[in-house]
Amino acid sequence: MADRPTSNASNVRSLVLIAVVVVALVAAFAFTAGWLSPARLTPAKIVNALAPPGGPTLGFRRNHAKGICFTGNFESNGAAAALSKAPMFAAGSYPVTGRFNLATADPKAPDSAVPVRGLSLRIVTPDGSEWRSAMIDAPFFAVSTPQAFYALLKASADKSNPDAMKNFIAAHPEFGAFAAWVGAGRRTASFAEERYNSLNSFIFTNAEGQDQAVRWSFVPAAQPEIVTPDQLKARGADFLDADIAQRVQSAPQRWTMVVTVANPGDPTADPTKAWPDDRRKVDAGTLVVNAIEPEPDGPCRDLNFDPTVLPPGMHVSDDPFPAARSAAYAVSFDRRTAEDKDYPHHPAGGATP
Ligand code: HEM
Repeated sequence: MADRPTSNASNVRSLVLIAVVVVALVAAFAFTAGWLSPARLTPAKIVNALAPPGGPTLGFRRNHAKGICFTGNFESNGAAAALSKAPMFAAGSYPVTGRFNLATADPKAPDSAVPVRGLSLRIVTPDGSEWRSAMIDAPFFAVSTPQAFYALLKASADKSNPDAMKNFIAAHPEFGAFAAWVGAGRRTASFAEERYNSLNSFIFTNAEGQDQAVRWSFVPAAQPEIVTPDQLKARGADFLDADIAQRVQSAPQRWTMVVTVANPGDPTADPTKAWPDDRRKVDAGTLVVNAIEPEPDGPCRDLNFDPTVLPPGMHVSDDPFPAARSAAYAVSFDRRTAEDKDYPHHPAGGATP
């Protein structure tokens, strides 16, 4: 009997301790889930904002949903080895899986309706290193930060406020140059005639351990021919895929990889700021596109062209986009791969592109 009060006190202490642990766990969970900071921008929020008003097309990429897969080689000439010890810059030929694509969440958008075109690449080397890159044909990006990208998506979808885009542009004047580039409509009628740019800055490290801030571009061997918006419309909804399939069937298509090296002080954290034209350029080699692959069940379907998948000799810079993109692409990848039943399949696996 004499020990009862002590035992009661120790029971209470245990219960309090359990309650404290439970509350701490719930708080940690809520913090991690973002419930305590609803204003925080999360990858899921950005990906949700990419969806059109009717919701996303299940099974497809949440952006750049329309595209066509290919395989080929990167023929490295060895010149970029002075900038980066990445194994794909040693002279030689390395296999590539890639994708030509359109910056739209709608896999059925007519080609003429989408102003931005993309090129995604995955280059692998025999030691298992790989380099993934997803580029677009714009000469600079639309906005300076991932937060501004989210604000743009929200403003362009906001039908309740007629001033939403006006307010966005007033708060993000850098968007003006991009809008002017889109408005000028200087588009070709072929994926093969486009130049594709990393826009984001990365750091190359060479065998001596020297770092260089760089951006890169893939410059087409095909001569670009600018066509009018009406001419583009007249070609039909899916002419870009048909055009590239036909070109690759008649001959491999080529792009020169050009590395642009920053001068000290060039802005690396802001992809709206193009570097001056006179910056040092190094031709690293040639992308050769040899075969168009089926898009629906082909080698690109389960590939996430995450721009932070980099080989030794390359790493991200202070540019905030690659990390934000990596997180958003992972959300998109997880969602679309979980929606496999909604994705078009070809019964015999013998899809035509
Ligand atoms: C915060 C900014 C950005 C966000 C949130 C974003 C979001 C996305 C998402 C969700 C996908 C689909 C990924 C998948 O399911 O595999 C995608 C694809 C793509 N993005 Fe972005 N993106 C951003 C910036 C950029 C920039 C700066 C570029 C080019 C310089 C770019 C080029 C591409 C390309 C080419 C693809 C197609 C990749 C493929 O073929 O799978 N994106 N983007």
